[in-house]
Amino acid sequence: MRYIGSKKLLLGEIERVIDENIESAESFCDIFSGTASVANYFKSRFRILSNDLMYFSFCIQKGVIENNIRPNFNKLGFDPVEYFNNLKENEIESLPNKKRFCLNNYSPAGGRMYLSGENALKIDFIRTKINDWLKKEKINESEFYYLIAVLIEAIPFVSNISGTYGAYNKFWDKRALKDLTLKEIEILDNKKNNTAFNTDANTLIKNIEGDILYIDPPYNKRQYSSNYHLLETVAKYDFPILKGVTGIRENEIKSDYCKKKVVLNAFEDLVKNAKFKHIIVSYSTEGLMGINEIENVLCKYGTNYKMYEIDYRRFKSRGKCRGKCNCEGNLKELIFYARKEV
Ligand SMILES: C[S@@+](CC[C@H](N)C(=O)[O-])C[C@H]1O[C@@H](n2cnc3c(N)ncnc32)[C@H](O)[C@@H]1O
Repeated sequence: MRYIGSKKLLLGEIERVIDENIESAESFCDIFSGTASVANYFKSRFRILSNDLMYFSFCIQKGVIENNIRPNFNKLGFDPVEYFNNLKENEIESLPNKKRFCLNNYSPAGGRMYLSGENALKIDFIRTKINDWLKKEKINESEFYYLIAVLIEAIPFVSNISGTYGAYNKFWDKRALKDLTLKEIEILDNKKNNTAFNTDANTLIKNIEGDILYIDPPYNKRQYSSNYHLLETVAKYDFPILKGVTGIRENEIKSDYCKKKVVLNAFEDLVKNAKFKHIIVSYSTEGLMGINEIENVLCKYGTNYKMYEIDYRRFKSRGKCRGKCNCEGNLKELIFYARKEV
């Protein structure tokens, strides 16, 4: 999935930092996990702890990181992904109006253009079925999260947006007019007891310990809760009150890492309380915290401090920028390393 701050293209660089600085480690904690791409990449090497404030991210983590096999849906007696991909129109149409949250809020029927009416209703149908199956104990928790993860991963491919759910396009992108199709997610078996969390990183840090702590907080003021509200609502399916033209959720938790005044305190608190031997931080030269501020915190609580710079244009060369942006080579992705006595 396209995600602000995704480290999908930086995995090799993070691995290089690990290989250069860490001789042996058993566990890896991805405490700002987002799409879980980093946690998933390192799952083959370490026992994984992962976490994010967003519930939709937690569902992906539960589905892909905690699970070590693709659930078999024995009790259900058929393959749900295949079933959802072959739904008959009259079956979907049988969904009562009070269960049509996405149709009535994110499609033209609700005055917004995030999703076509057909796809919005299909999402409502799928989401309602998954809840029913769980309630009737036809699927277990692992199966539930796997299906939510599969659904969440499929939605961006048919969303009428340019990047995030901060706004929808005024005209239909042809992608959004395609039929929603669910795809299986590959699950790696690392034969370890991996754990996913859905809480504030600063609270969680007081209750966990391990070898490597990977810190990839938001860089700027863009709150993930506003930019991915639709995925959050599909994951929670809690029929929230929506606000304004964009339809963001009311009363969402705001991250301190997106607030200039408090971000440094939050970061220092996190590093101070970390009971991990190695700390790796991803950040950007465009971020709310300055390089010196990050360095000061890591040197105050750790040793063996190092900073690696990756040219943004190189990092994005397979992605969006392709040398066309105005960063003139000044914009850099940063990876920091420090060792901590615990
Ligand atoms: C830069 S993104 C992480 C991207 C991720 N590494 C990836 O490759 O997809 C930052 C993430 O931090 C999460 N976040 C923000 N504040 C948080 C907090 N206080 N505790 C936990 N997660 C938080 C956001 O929801 C977002 O998913």
